[in-house]
Amino acid sequence: MKRPIIAGNWKMNMNNAETKKLIEEMAPLVADAKCEVVVCVPFTSIDTARKALRGTKIKLGAQNVHWAPKGAFTGEISADMLKELKVRYVIIGHSERRQYFGETDESVNARLKAALGAGLKAIVCIGETLAEREAGQTKDVVTRQLCGALEGIEKRDLKSIVIAYEPVWAIGTGKTATPLEANDTIRVIRKALRKLYDRTAAKAMRIQYGGSMNAKNASELMAMPEIDGGLIGGASLKAEDFAKVVNY
Ligand code: 13P
Repeated sequence: MKRPIIAGNWKMNMNNAETKKLIEEMAPLVADAKCEVVVCVPFTSIDTARKALRGTKIKLGAQNVHWAPKGAFTGEISADMLKELKVRYVIIGHSERRQYFGETDESVNARLKAALGAGLKAIVCIGETLAEREAGQTKDVVTRQLCGALEGIEKRDLKSIVIAYEPVWAIGTGKTATPLEANDTIRVIRKALRKLYDRTAAKAMRIQYGGSMNAKNASELMAMPEIDGGLIGGASLKAEDFAKVVNY
């Protein structure tokens, strides 16, 4: 039985005092969660979050990782650096990274390999833009992004990977993909996984939906057979809202 996974992506929000406060507010509210719960905080909040998360069910995540172990990469953070700070999960290839910071399928793949090599678990994001959706390219885009991200990744490593399907047009816009739309595209992703690996691997892979998922729509999205979790932006910044998603 797959365990659903709800992860908060705080993006560039929350200073250290706010991090401590938010975690202290949310921890008791998700104490009985049936699903796996993760918060992906800014690098500068990792240490504060790690301390505040002690003794809670919530796991610590980061939002990006570099592909090299060390070296002249000003401003970047390596997988071993995250591991040292007890980070468990890292988001890779978020559409905002692709859109504003030039991430490509190749760099996503390299970052994923570095994360896995250091023993981190990864949440790999894929999803089409509005223009791509309107041009009828959704299937091709998510398949290309998936295959690019997983290039050279062995089947035995899939257990450390979660895929997040985040249609770009649904992120921060209040426009959610309907549960059926999200389910359909995730089915396409699973089919691609079947081709890349096999039926068992595809079935076992946890695939989240992300994009304006919130306290109101979480239960209908989570009721869909293909959806194994959520990656939550805005609604993860308020303890009660995030807890409602977690306890969908
Ligand atoms: P919102 O939930 O704010 O739409 O953001 C989704 C997202 O990008 C999570 O990674």
